[in-house]
Amino acid sequence: MGRTQPFGRLLDEVREIAGSRRSKDEKLGMMCVLLKQKVPRYNWVGFYLASGAKKELALGAFAGEPTEHIRIPYGSGICGQAALAKKTFVVQDVSKEANYLSCGPKVKSEIVVPVLKGRNFVAELDIDSHAIAPFSEEDRKFLEKVCKIVSGLF
Ligand code: SME
Repeated sequence: MGRTQPFGRLLDEVREIAGSRRSKDEKLGMMCVLLKQKVPRYNWVGFYLASGAKKELALGAFAGEPTEHIRIPYGSGICGQAALAKKTFVVQDVSKEANYLSCGPKVKSEIVVPVLKGRNFVAELDIDSHAIAPFSEEDRKFLEKVCKIVSGLF
């Protein structure tokens, strides 16, 4: 997939879903399915939601195989680190990351992008890939734009 142009179209589709008359959960679910279907290197796409008082993440909508990681304490794994740092984490080879929660042997890389409402961390977009080093700077920029749109739903 050539990257810039399809990402532009995909962003339009994400905006369309965000602006539609559906519940937040339905919208997040549709976005997961869209990203997984349209970008073949995105093998698992899901949202973890902040549960601030408990200092843990709760799995929300996702597309891909079920995961055992339904709740993740802040600081734990790549997801938990991104929640604390409120920054995008790109791990091109998960075998080199010490603080990592495995979702199975097929997963080779992962990107986690926070969803911020002002300065508050409210959720994160988590994408696993079966390829090593599949995420370019364009992926990061695209997914950060997706998360800006998603922040409007919170
Ligand atoms: N690998 C993640 C756990 C969540 S799964 O990828 C769905 C992590 O290290 O935080």
